[in-house]
Amino acid sequence: MRIDVVSIFPEYLAALDLSLIGKARRDGLLDLRVQDLRERTTDRHHTVDDTPYGGGAGMVMKPEPWAAALSEIAEASPVPAGRKPLLIVPSPAGAVFTQRMAHELAEEPHLAFACGRYEGIDERVLEWAAERFEVRPVSLGDYVLNGGEVAVLAMVEAIGRLVPGVVGNPESLVEESHSDGLLEYPVYTKPAVWEGRAVPEVLLGGNHGKIARHRRNEQLRRTAARRPDLILALDPATLNAKDRDT
Ligand code: ADE
Repeated sequence: MRIDVVSIFPEYLAALDLSLIGKARRDGLLDLRVQDLRERTTDRHHTVDDTPYGGGAGMVMKPEPWAAALSEIAEASPVPAGRKPLLIVPSPAGAVFTQRMAHELAEEPHLAFACGRYEGIDERVLEWAAERFEVRPVSLGDYVLNGGEVAVLAMVEAIGRLVPGVVGNPESLVEESHSDGLLEYPVYTKPAVWEGRAVPEVLLGGNHGKIARHRRNEQLRRTAARRPDLILALDPATLNAKDRDT
């Protein structure tokens, strides 16, 4: 998968050299390129922002450097003719990023991310970009960050780990939070008793049916307590009779 990130703080993205995503880059599974928007400016001061038309607080990102960066990315895109690469614009005004979205995006051959700062990017850039990309404003959640970089770190990690080969044992992607609409069950390791606290007895017994039932009950209880919205959103067809007793 090819991933392009455009930012005025490319150093923020250095964390993508670490851990599993860094290894996936070195192994050639993720072709991730970060570019500095300021290098696309043509004035002596490398200006990327200006005051907003209509007034108001803060500054708005100028369109010209974005057009220079994004047109080059679109031209270099590996997507087949007739298809457009995806341009994700992190924004608190976007659709909320979810595990389902991460799975969808992990299927794409090419993702580009445009990290806005200040009050955002001139809206015309998104209209212009729609001729070259499928443009999607995406939010990490209902809160405001100072810019898109932290959101890109989160999204690239969530998407990248779903690209085949990035996570060594694909089974570890199956039983995790949000994979089945529920939060994951609690986990324990040795020692069996620590600080007077014992690991649940059933996990020591080796009865796989009982262990699976116990874990499913824990998932249902934890989700009901912490995220009742997820319980309400569950497809009733995914629940079995024993789930209903929990
Ligand atoms: N930029 C600023 N706030 C953001 C958010 N909540 N999600 C994505 N990008 C953002």
